[in-house]
Amino acid sequence: MKIVLLGAPGAGKGTHAQYLSDKYEIPHISTGDIFRANLKNGTPLGLKAKAYMDRGELVPDELTVDLVLDRLTQDDCKKGYILDGFPRNLLQAEALTKALAEKGESIDHAIHFEIDEATILKRMSGRRVCPVCGASYNINGLPPKKEGICDRCGNELIQREDDKPETVLKRLEVYEKHTAPIVKYYHSLHEEDRVDSSRPLGEVREALDAILKGDADGCHSEN
Ligand code: AP5
Repeated sequence: MKIVLLGAPGAGKGTHAQYLSDKYEIPHISTGDIFRANLKNGTPLGLKAKAYMDRGELVPDELTVDLVLDRLTQDDCKKGYILDGFPRNLLQAEALTKALAEKGESIDHAIHFEIDEATILKRMSGRRVCPVCGASYNINGLPPKKEGICDRCGNELIQREDDKPETVLKRLEVYEKHTAPIVKYYHSLHEEDRVDSSRPLGEVREALDAILKGDADGCHSEN
């Protein structure tokens, strides 16, 4: 099952990508996490991406598209994958469609996470993330069991650099200009899949389960 998660910064893509990844045992591929891991390791890619990320702008397509298309050729993607944060503009979306079509494949679901700006701003200010495994928490409603510590791997949680209010506003502006148009692009190719991601976690999960029900052939699911 090949899934693209669409939605504004802070809409809950990463949180629910992790849920779907655990449920269907397919990888969660987040371009933001890939860039942050490269930055942490001081790679040339990480250093180049940092300047754009700090400003809330998109990392150039030439650093992004091949990176993702190459990732999709790895063995763990054979059963499918969940793309979170990619594609981010029409060029990336068309490059993905073309690369998949060359292999006779296509995306099965492009799910749009709909949410209002006030809820986004509240969630971003309370977000805490694990710099090691990428798990995401929120001090305003989804806290870890032990304050400041990741439930999954026990490492100390941090606040993301680009969650500063001024950078968040820039990211929302970039989303509206470059990323929102690809929702229409996917809905011209697929049945419209959307969830109201301002709802509580359990309700968003139920909505996702309803969308993906019956599509999980070949994917492990016990939940
Ligand atoms: P990226 O890391 O992709 O960030 P983003 O898309 O802006 O999305 P976020 O990670 O901020 O939010 P999310 O939707 O995953 O929300 P989350 O689940 O954490 O990108 C960062 C930067 O990298 C970009 O600005 C750009 O520079 C660069 N980049 C990345 N990909 C790129 C690409 N393809 N091309 C070019 N540049 C690229 O949830 C948010 C909070 O809400 C959390 O605290 C969570 O616990 C909480 N929460 C979630 N759901 C609920 C709920 N239902 N109820 C209550 N709380 C909830």
